[in-house]
Amino acid sequence: MKKRTFLKRTAMAATGVTVAPSLLFSSCKGEPKAAEPAAAALAPVVFELPEIPYGYNAFPEIIDAMTMEIHHSKHHQGYTNNLNAALKEAGIGDKTLEEILAMDTLPTAIRNNGGGYYNHNLYWDVLTPGEDTGSAIEPAVVEHFGSMEALKNELAEAGARRFGSGWAWLCQDADKKLFVCSTPNQDNPLMQVAERRGTPLLGIDVWEHAYYLKYQNKRGEYLQNILKIINWQKVASRMA
Ligand SMILES: [Fe+2]
Repeated sequence: MKKRTFLKRTAMAATGVTVAPSLLFSSCKGEPKAAEPAAAALAPVVFELPEIPYGYNAFPEIIDAMTMEIHHSKHHQGYTNNLNAALKEAGIGDKTLEEILAMDTLPTAIRNNGGGYYNHNLYWDVLTPGEDTGSAIEPAVVEHFGSMEALKNELAEAGARRFGSGWAWLCQDADKKLFVCSTPNQDNPLMQVAERRGTPLLGIDVWEHAYYLKYQNKRGEYLQNILKIINWQKVASRMA
């Protein structure tokens, strides 16, 4: 066993596993092996609320600071806390977040709060106050949708047509094909319940808490605007 691996396992066995926000979409497994004590294999994973690097007032014309603050510090924090509690109760500690969400039997509390945690991580991660960064993903988008404009229209339509609360997604399937879809509540395309499964590259929150203070019932306007602040370079970096 390499020294680094040994130290990692020893630390996890002693303290459980705390997942740094920078590792949210990578492996956070406890790497349990048959020779390890059962307690180490089941050490609970503890997820942390990621920081928003651009702050709450990064896009006042698109999303007001109060919405950003409540969304992050109350809603996202709540999903984080509830996910950690649910994982502890279920004794799940040897899987990545992606593996947890893809489980055959997903307890309701983990489905709702694990989805909420993952979905919001992605939501914040693919927004940017900077310039349009579309060029990195444009060739793949043109291949699958015809143009960036066509993709944005499809995403806006998916979000607008979602009845009640949910998400609009750009995903990549196992054959590396890009597709747009929508899921209800805090479900996402990693889950077995999804109509079409794939890896989320971009997620747009269409729960009213994401836009209601500024847009009230005008979800379509929120969707048109949020598509102006997508970090397409980040989206492209998530493609296989
Ligand atoms: Fe949300």
